[in-house]
Amino acid sequence: MITIIGTGRVGVAVAIHLAIKGLDDIMLIDIIEGLPQGEALDLTHMCATLGIDIDISGSNDYKDMSGSELVIVPAGFIRTADMSRLDLLYKNSEVIKAVSKGIKEYAPNSKVIMVTNPLDVMTYLAYKVTGFERNRVLGFSGLLDTSRYKSLIAKELGVAASTIYTTIIGEHGDTMVLLPRFTMVGGVPLESLIPKEKIQQIIERTKKMGAEIIKLKKWSASHAVGAGVATMAEAIIKDTKAVIPVSTYLQGEYGVSDVCVVVPAVIGKNGIEKIIELPLNDEERAAFLKSVETVKSAISQLKL
Ligand code: LAC
Repeated sequence: MITIIGTGRVGVAVAIHLAIKGLDDIMLIDIIEGLPQGEALDLTHMCATLGIDIDISGSNDYKDMSGSELVIVPAGFIRTADMSRLDLLYKNSEVIKAVSKGIKEYAPNSKVIMVTNPLDVMTYLAYKVTGFERNRVLGFSGLLDTSRYKSLIAKELGVAASTIYTTIIGEHGDTMVLLPRFTMVGGVPLESLIPKEKIQQIIERTKKMGAEIIKLKKWSASHAVGAGVATMAEAIIKDTKAVIPVSTYLQGEYGVSDVCVVVPAVIGKNGIEKIIELPLNDEERAAFLKSVETVKSAISQLKL
């Protein structure tokens, strides 16, 4: 069973993509009475229409996540366009503490995918409160930020986004580090295809894309989040060993410790199976370390 805690727009988008992949039965949990139960019925009927034979239930009780192999956490508040992801820290840390205690009690053997912002800080908090091994606590954001970056490159070059390979490191926030040197378009290095200044514009727009979407649709991005989280879930449930950028607790990798930030990793049945250390140049390393410091200073504001 896969449990989703928090069934607002993001949680429901995750549920839709999980259901379409037919990975496993789904349990929706939320504190709002009726909401997860109603969404579960609606999604059950979606599955009946599509011929997908999984069971989807809703509950207001944490104990109903018992037996979950995977728990996905989009619970909490979203930011408004004028808020940074870090502004959410205080509001969401109380929510995530309570949720993490619930996971520790009722799904002690599960893997956990954090989705709540500020993503890296909430992943750190969940790691600390659950006390799980670090491989079992993963933060989602890398597939979202790279999907935005790839879409902008695809448009600029007139190629399919699916033919672009890239990765990302650092914070899911204003200091995220996109990596043109590690971006390939059909096997051709991006930097030989687009002038530096244009790449920089694409990177800047990518970093602000979350806010751009919130401003336009008056709500947080959800569809790309749903698709990305389901891709991570699939890597875990099917043990695919896909290389995906995820937020994880670093213990010396990249010369960094006691912080969660995004780095590429091999994802399989144990969660994070291997952290990949990219051969960064001085400029990339400096940008990464600046990003790490931003997350560390936010973490220092947590009351653990
Ligand atoms: C985004 C916000 C939700 O990137 O973090 O869309």
